[in-house]
Amino acid sequence: MSQPIDFDNNAPITADEYDRAAQLALPGYEAMHTMVLACLQAYLPESADLLVVGSGTGMELARLGKACPQWHFLGIDPSEKMQAIAKQKMSHHQLSHQVKLIEGYTQDLPTDILYDAATSILVMHFIPPSGKLQFLQSIAQRLHPSAPLVLVDVFGEKQSQELKQLMPILHAYWNAMGFPPQKQQELLAAFNQGVYPLVETNILNLLEQAGFEKTMRFYTGLWVGGWLAFKR
Ligand SMILES: C[S@@+](CC[C@H](N)C(=O)[O-])C[C@H]1O[C@@H](n2cnc3c(N)ncnc32)[C@H](O)[C@@H]1O
Repeated sequence: MSQPIDFDNNAPITADEYDRAAQLALPGYEAMHTMVLACLQAYLPESADLLVVGSGTGMELARLGKACPQWHFLGIDPSEKMQAIAKQKMSHHQLSHQVKLIEGYTQDLPTDILYDAATSILVMHFIPPSGKLQFLQSIAQRLHPSAPLVLVDVFGEKQSQELKQLMPILHAYWNAMGFPPQKQQELLAAFNQGVYPLVETNILNLLEQAGFEKTMRFYTGLWVGGWLAFKR
């Protein structure tokens, strides 16, 4: 049975172990954040307002905020536990003046405040298929025309030959990274239960329908992909 994942109650990786586990389990996690930074720096001015959807424990907020001191961020996330860690992290890195954190969902934000860019990193795959278009539309509605969106998600078709072929590679990668076998099993169980990946064509179609154009893939880490798109 599939069951939506909630990071406060049935997280695949708990909030307090998230930072370390994400770096071990997600192929190229840190390099991916560096590529996200590059995508945004390439298309944003020195001073900009960014919407970070699913800001979690604040990993991308810290990476982007430290690199670009004149960028300001709204980080939104429904998880109280993830947000509590993000708040501590912003204070630790002296980024609190650059970052505002809100507990909730993008669709709850006002539509008269528009952002210069948005990110959704490792978030949309947790949303069941029926909610994905609305999720992307809620981001598009809060962006200026031409604003970049960076979307990073697990992708592919569950049970497909390609994903089956990837599994032993993922396990070998996790072993090489020292990600414990018990955690590997837990992560895969969570993937089977509460992750809803799409094939790339469907991601591109959804982005188009939601009001984005000029989408390009900038990153692949085995089963995780990253796309850069622009609000029409
Ligand atoms: C895997 S974490 C990713 C955190 C961070 N973006 C990163 O790259 O490490 C997923 C986060 O998305 C949040 N989330 C889940 N559904 C969401 C939604 N509909 N809107 C915004 N955030 C959501 C979860 O609470 C969790 O903190």
